[in-house]
Amino acid sequence: MDLRLRPFQQRDLDMLRRFATEPGLIGLDWSGFRDAEAPARRFAEDGYLSTVDGRDARLVVETPQETSAAGFVSWRVGPVSEHHWEIGIALLPECRGQGIGWRAQAMLCDYLFHHTPAQRIQAGTHPENAAEQKALEKAGFRLEGVIRAVEFRAGQWRDGWLYSRLRDDPSPLAGAG
Ligand SMILES: CC(C)(COP(=O)(O)OP(=O)(O)OC[C@H]1O[C@@H](n2cnc3c(N)ncnc32)[C@H](O)[C@@H]1OP(=O)(O)O)[C@@H](O)C(=O)NCCC(=O)NCCS
Repeated sequence: MDLRLRPFQQRDLDMLRRFATEPGLIGLDWSGFRDAEAPARRFAEDGYLSTVDGRDARLVVETPQETSAAGFVSWRVGPVSEHHWEIGIALLPECRGQGIGWRAQAMLCDYLFHHTPAQRIQAGTHPENAAEQKALEKAGFRLEGVIRAVEFRAGQWRDGWLYSRLRDDPSPLAGAG
């Protein structure tokens, strides 16, 4: 599959507006309505490419069939060290379940290990998010454990599952051409 990660363009901002205002479109991470104009302000500031001050940087996930976005991947400085990244992903519903999610996260890891000296990339997910658990494992991540009561979501504090991939862990895309 010929996927591409690329910087955001003006035309991609509609997708972010939708994620901010359509309940549940983003999946289990829906945490209520967000300012629909915030993505445009952020895009004007740094094109979604800076991680200073706790910001998450983002790249669009694009498939060869569609020049519009299938979703986006994100990364921010991890909670323990400036040499760690924490990544995330959200695909539009019609783009899920086709092998895009695991590949996009594997590509993001390869990109971050190539362009930054990071030693560790971590990702958290929900106990009921089987798709993301499998996608992370296929992207070369290993399950580290359960983080108890780590996030407030859908009316209660809930556990999270923490995964990581280290610089020396093999990339599932190695030799993929
Ligand atoms: C989670 C997400 C990124 C996964 O990406 P995806 O493109 O749908 O997943 P893939 O097609 O790459 O599938 C990866 C593996 O998960 C499996 N899978 C996919 N959807 C699944 C589902 N709904 N339930 C169980 N397994 C599923 C696939 O079969 C594949 O495993 P296999 O190779 O053993 O068959 C995507 O579904 C998504 O954006 N969901 C909404 C947002 C979200 O949950 N983000 C993560 C927040 S922590």
